[in-house]
Amino acid sequence: MKILFYMPHSDAAAWLHDFARALPEADLREWQPGDTEPADFAVVWRPPREMLAGREDLRAIFNLGAGVDAILGLEHEQPGTLPRSAQLIRLEDTGMALQMAEYVTHAVLRYLRRFDEYQTLQSERRWEVLDPHPRETFTVGVLGLGVLGTHVAQAVAAFGMPVRGYSRSARQIDGITTFAGEAQFDAFLDGVKVLANLLPHTPDTGDVLNTRTFSKLAKGAYLINVARGGHLVEQDLLEALASGQIAAATLDVFREEPLPPDHPFWQESRITITPHISALTLREESVAQVARKMTALMRGETVSGVVDIERGY
Ligand code: NAP
Ligand code: GLV
Repeated sequence: MKILFYMPHSDAAAWLHDFARALPEADLREWQPGDTEPADFAVVWRPPREMLAGREDLRAIFNLGAGVDAILGLEHEQPGTLPRSAQLIRLEDTGMALQMAEYVTHAVLRYLRRFDEYQTLQSERRWEVLDPHPRETFTVGVLGLGVLGTHVAQAVAAFGMPVRGYSRSARQIDGITTFAGEAQFDAFLDGVKVLANLLPHTPDTGDVLNTRTFSKLAKGAYLINVARGGHLVEQDLLEALASGQIAAATLDVFREEPLPPDHPFWQESRITITPHISALTLREESVAQVARKMTALMRGETVSGVVDIERGY
């Protein structure tokens, strides 16, 4: 089995070492520009077009992340880039669901318990008790009920606030009130106090976090975006903060990453910024999952996590 690896800004030697341990029979190499030698599998994160275009030898491309928007972007810009012979397979959880649950739960509890406001009071040396938010109306809405969104929704629900979830097809999840499809979008949003976005970025979901969406939420709602920057209309968020429709936001992803130093979000104290770290790709878990799937594919078996290219996730 021949495997090509490409992951910029990573410790490629460590990845290749772990793959070699998991698949001792494999012939592994880091892809370099100009390498067109045949391979069975490509393991990639944000690969250049040149690596994949015209490679009819590949059986599968393993994306070293949950989101496949970057790699599908190559196909949208230039149809035919992704080899027809190859399935595109994304990571499924590999430790990301727990990280997302930690990140989103932390933000939700910070807003519920008003820690940001207590921090401001502390900076002013003021000892003041704020009225608690009533838990029963502190409704959390989770956009996307896939591998990550489902775990996040259940983790938040454990704290007793009402939790809603929104997906494309109907889902049933214990303890979560679920909504599906565009026809139920407004009902999902109605009166939500914290909106957490875990949708994939597709032609259907781009710009979903906009003025209209914010207007359906409770006045003074909170926004958490851990999916993709392309989901958020940035100017709409700044206006919603100015009007008080949105009280504060926690953002992990941005249209331009790294966020440029002159971006207005840096100046806005009500926006918490993290550098796309809400759920990192963990090497050990990812190598184990990808190696298991490669072995299954070589045996002619089917595997989960295959991306529907038309649907975009
Ligand atoms: P997933 O398993 O594919 O789940 C996607 C969910 O979104 C599904 O519930 C799906 O509905 C729903 N959905 C897709 N299109 C929709 C639409 N048009 N309307 C309504 N619902 C729609 O994805 P995942 O593994 O949970 O990951 C979600 C995203 O998180 C990734 O695509 C990635 O962008 C982001 N992410 C970010 C980080 C980070 O560090 N910031 C890390 C990992 C992932 P169905 O259930 O009906 O299919
Ligand atoms: C990270 O953003 C991922 O999609 O895994």
